[in-house]
Amino acid sequence: MIRLPGLIDPHVHLREPGATHKEDFDSGTCAALAGGFTLVLAMPNTRPPIFDAETLDLALNAAKQKARCDYAQYVGAGPDNADVVAALADKAAALKMYLDITFGQLRLDDMTLWMPHFEKYPKQYPIVAHSESRSMAAAILFAAIYDRPVHIAHISLKEEVLLIRAAKEKGITVTCEVCPHHLFLTADSPLPQGDRGASRSVAEGGSGVRVNGRKEVRPRLATRSDVDALWENLDVIDCFATDHAPHTLEEKDSENPPPGFPGLETALPLLLTAVAAGPFGAAQGRRLTLDDLIQKMYVNPRKIFHLPDQPETWIEVDENAEYQIKAFEQFTRCGWTPFEGWKVKGRVRKVVLRGKTAFEDGKILVEKGYGRNIRQQ
Ligand code: DOR
Ligand code: ZN
Repeated sequence: MIRLPGLIDPHVHLREPGATHKEDFDSGTCAALAGGFTLVLAMPNTRPPIFDAETLDLALNAAKQKARCDYAQYVGAGPDNADVVAALADKAAALKMYLDITFGQLRLDDMTLWMPHFEKYPKQYPIVAHSESRSMAAAILFAAIYDRPVHIAHISLKEEVLLIRAAKEKGITVTCEVCPHHLFLTADSPLPQGDRGASRSVAEGGSGVRVNGRKEVRPRLATRSDVDALWENLDVIDCFATDHAPHTLEEKDSENPPPGFPGLETALPLLLTAVAAGPFGAAQGRRLTLDDLIQKMYVNPRKIFHLPDQPETWIEVDENAEYQIKAFEQFTRCGWTPFEGWKVKGRVRKVVLRGKTAFEDGKILVEKGYGRNIRQQ
């Protein structure tokens, strides 16, 4: 049995307010605890999006009543709310900016809309950018010009990790995260396809092409060469984040599948399995140690987001337990996982949060509302 710090996930979608049939602060924080996370930072692309004092209160009130692990809530950058969100910074996890198309309504296409946010958001918190490829390069340029920290969400491409390395070498204050699905899956991975909701024929006004909605995620799953580059440049990657993005199976198998994978309950076992595999391909720097895991799932997120200590908090993991990932055993409400049937080594046995056993042997042992907002003044 090994003991690790309570893990921190800086990137989860808990769907409250607005889409609690996919997840809410209760089911999402149960999934977090079962996955070994004691603190999650919730994204603002809800319905309505979290982008002012009123909507922030909406999310925080729901969280206060339902969350079982600790949390903070992001605010989202909109076209005209730079002053408003800057004033809320001490109550928020950080500011999220959507610079590319993805799920939800928050999107800033025009760089003139980025400027006031970079000018005004307090520099002690990072701006987290959903920015892929060249918009990532633009976000890094903004970090340099405005001399402030930027955290790049879910990098997935070789060109991204190499550019971040170069930017760090220049002293630009950029950090980044990578998701397990971009480390363990490629666009060619055989993900099971649903048999429901086959695409409509061209005659019926549909595309006629049957997409596998279960593969849809933003950023998209990449090539083998991209995945190899992420593993080979792990030293550049500051955090592992799940981007836990639950959508129901019915939605994933529909005509217009929303992008996103659940990830809270599979991240640690997948990464522990990589640790157990040893220094595979060490010549190319492809290795993951338990210490890397602690750095990227606890030490670095705490530092980057200025998160407080969670006293008397730790997790216990049976590093030798081997089992198969099964969606039906999960707490997430979405009912599926892209890693169904994967054999992993490493199971979370116990989670102690602020002195109380919150999870043990598959059971959640703390009530709704036990979780605290770590940004509460
Ligand atoms: O795949 C994704 N799903 N990428 C995102 O950026 C958003 C997320 C979601 O909210 O479903
Ligand atoms: Zn996300």
